[in-house]
Amino acid sequence: MSLLRQPLLLLARSSLVKRVVSGMPVSAGIVRSYVPGETTESAVGATAELADGGLRITLDYLGEDTTDAEQADATVAAYLDVLQELAARGLTRNAEVSVKLSAVGQFLPDAVGFGGGQKIALENARTICRAARNAGTAVTLDMEDHTTTDSTLSILRELRKDFPETGAVLQAALHRTESDCRALAYEGSRVRLCKGAYLEPESVAFQDRLEISKSYVRCLKVLLAGEGYPMIATHDPQMIEIASSLASRYGRAAGTYEYQMLYGIRPEEQRRLVASGETVRVYVPYGTEWYGYLMRRLAERPQNLSFFVKSLVSKK
Ligand code: FDA
Repeated sequence: MSLLRQPLLLLARSSLVKRVVSGMPVSAGIVRSYVPGETTESAVGATAELADGGLRITLDYLGEDTTDAEQADATVAAYLDVLQELAARGLTRNAEVSVKLSAVGQFLPDAVGFGGGQKIALENARTICRAARNAGTAVTLDMEDHTTTDSTLSILRELRKDFPETGAVLQAALHRTESDCRALAYEGSRVRLCKGAYLEPESVAFQDRLEISKSYVRCLKVLLAGEGYPMIATHDPQMIEIASSLASRYGRAAGTYEYQMLYGIRPEEQRRLVASGETVRVYVPYGTEWYGYLMRRLAERPQNLSFFVKSLVSKK
């Protein structure tokens, strides 16, 4: 793990830091480099541009750890709005949506202990899955920290009964993930494999970057050898190279798996992979709640810190 990643992720939990950073306009250079805008229109605009370049897209309406039902409802409404707009512009062939269950009610406080938050999140996710299906596309459930893994996978199981196209995310940093990959490597199962963006305790997660990479490769082997549709989410050149040789070893034709990267990160590599015949999907986050997302990206890339501090000081 990088020396700065842990302190940065801890600092991100301070409410003072959140207040100061959230006061930055979305146009501030560092925010804009990771988030195309706050509105449905900006998200659909970015989608159209990426689709023109041969890329696929998954849109994430930013927000997490929702503590009131109204906010969860507003998040559902935002997804319905963007799906309708994507369909109207003929973009659902290229674009799907990614949903964080904590943004649609998974941990509503009055529901804790009664399984109620879980139920609300399931119903809200179902509404979004239905709208996605009607628009001609699908949903992928993002994965948050390890305390949510069991709840998210059980909601996934429920959703897949009616919407088998719903995708899941697994994080190579967690000890459990290789076995979760085995359980999800069945026909029709879409699984996004990432390293994991959350600060996790040693009891459940690998801490060392090399150990995380080794776990990523073990999970890749399970998914590429399996029957499902692997979505290889990484910017790491070494992981991409290994994925490509494993795909050949397991006789995977292009189009039976895909690469995924985040908006604004290694765009030349995204284009290079498309040019070589690979399917590449870009994760495009948008909306006003960009704080948590931005802090996780900064923690991954401490070189960006000086740029970030300049944005804070100039507030432009
Ligand atoms: P790594 O962090 O080692 O980066 C490799 C290289 O990529 C770096 O050397 C640098 O060149 C470039 N790079 C990486 N981060 C950068 C940054 N912020 N700015 C500029 N360059 C950067 N996580 C999670 O816990 N739950 C989830 O649901 C998802 N979903 C998701 C979707 C998609 C499409 C992607 C690509 C990633 C996620 N993630 C995620 C995030 C993931 O877990 C991980 O934190 C990041 O992808 C960074 O890990 P890499 O594999 O890119 O390697």
